[in-house]
Amino acid sequence: MTSPLDSYYTLGRTGLRVSRLALGTMTFGTEWGWGSDKETARQLFNAYADAGGNFFDTADLYTNGTSETWLGEFVAERGLRDKAVIATKFTYNGEPGNPNAGGNGRKNILRAVEGSLKRLGTDYIDLYILHTWDRVTPAEEVMRTLDDLVRAGKIRHAGLSDVPAWYASRAQTLADWRGYEPISALQLEYSLVERNIEREFTDLGTQHGMGIMVWSPLGSGLLSGKYRPSQDGGTGDGRLEAVKGSAVSAFDKFKQRNWDIVNELDAVAKAMGRSMAQVALNWVANRPGVASVILGATKLSQLNDNMAALSFEIPGELKARLDAVSAPAVEFPYSYFRDNQQVRIAGGVAVGGKPATYVPAIEIPAVDVLPAPVAQSR
Ligand SMILES: NC(=O)c1ccc[n+]([C@@H]2O[C@H](COP(=O)([O-])OP(=O)(O)OC[C@H]3O[C@@H](n4cnc5c(N)ncnc54)[C@H](OP(=O)(O)O)[C@@H]3O)[C@@H](O)[C@H]2O)c1
Repeated sequence: MTSPLDSYYTLGRTGLRVSRLALGTMTFGTEWGWGSDKETARQLFNAYADAGGNFFDTADLYTNGTSETWLGEFVAERGLRDKAVIATKFTYNGEPGNPNAGGNGRKNILRAVEGSLKRLGTDYIDLYILHTWDRVTPAEEVMRTLDDLVRAGKIRHAGLSDVPAWYASRAQTLADWRGYEPISALQLEYSLVERNIEREFTDLGTQHGMGIMVWSPLGSGLLSGKYRPSQDGGTGDGRLEAVKGSAVSAFDKFKQRNWDIVNELDAVAKAMGRSMAQVALNWVANRPGVASVILGATKLSQLNDNMAALSFEIPGELKARLDAVSAPAVEFPYSYFRDNQQVRIAGGVAVGGKPATYVPAIEIPAVDVLPAPVAQSR
């Protein structure tokens, strides 16, 4: 059987072909207290590459540089640089006390890219991603600098992570109108326990050619089902236990709403005879706008479980149960865009559908972020 990892899709509007499941390397290294040692990280890398996966995600921030360094070494050991699609990120500060050694200004981007290239042991990055909005740098400066890096041959494509939708929209508009390299990926937290991006980013990505790369698809491990509620929120053996009390919002997962989702996921997974992790990953991978789901693992057994997540379909009635228990609240202004308002706007006349022969005056490119698979190589 073909592995789901060696079906490649083009990312955003680019010709770059990537696996629908990417390998996250934030767990490469023990510096943060919840990662893997080098031999385990190498096993994770090799298992993913052997299954045909070609899409690797890292960042200069991760495990203080160890993640990039080991990823570069593992790619070199296997002679995979031409096959590997390497995504890395800039924003976080690399030199305490120096405010320009962080952020999204030109000075830091040009500093950061040299560091990443050195640690990765490569002369180009396939996808260079702004890690987090710094609230100050104009999109003009970021987009011009990323375009310069493409022209200099140091990066191939550009992406944004953890930014407001208006900022990504402005960045893409600048690219379209000024001929800069467009944004081809939006890297965002998305899972059954974190669906807030559906309000803006699904439409943004699908309408404007940016494929969503999902991070923390298991809510940092919560959706594997190994945590239980406890007096101080929750308990279990894994990252969420190790980071208790952290100020990072993504780690704040022990909430009643999330326990309800975990319980329903447990029931659905049991009904299907699948692991909870597989069902949660399958659910998010098949959401509109999702280009690739970044897998995280600290053990080979976890990765093997997760890599099988696209080898089945969730039956409609079970998927509906997951959709319902995790549905995000519809708040203003989104409450004004629902069908009941549209009927009032259209004077009671149905205007939803279009005749099959309808051709829009302006073609919007790449409406589907996941177009038909390209030839399955290998
Ligand atoms: N752009 C951003 O801001 C951003 C932020 C976060 C992550 N990321 C990227 O996204 C990647 C994935 O994020 P993530 O690691 O948070 O993803 P995740 O899938 O939500 O969590 C992964 C963790 O869950 C546990 N786990 C995974 N599979 C399991 C299984 N089958 N059974 C039991 N436990 C399992 C493991 O941790 P334990 O063994 O410790 O329980 C694993 O490290 C990262 O590596 C990174 O590349 C990007």
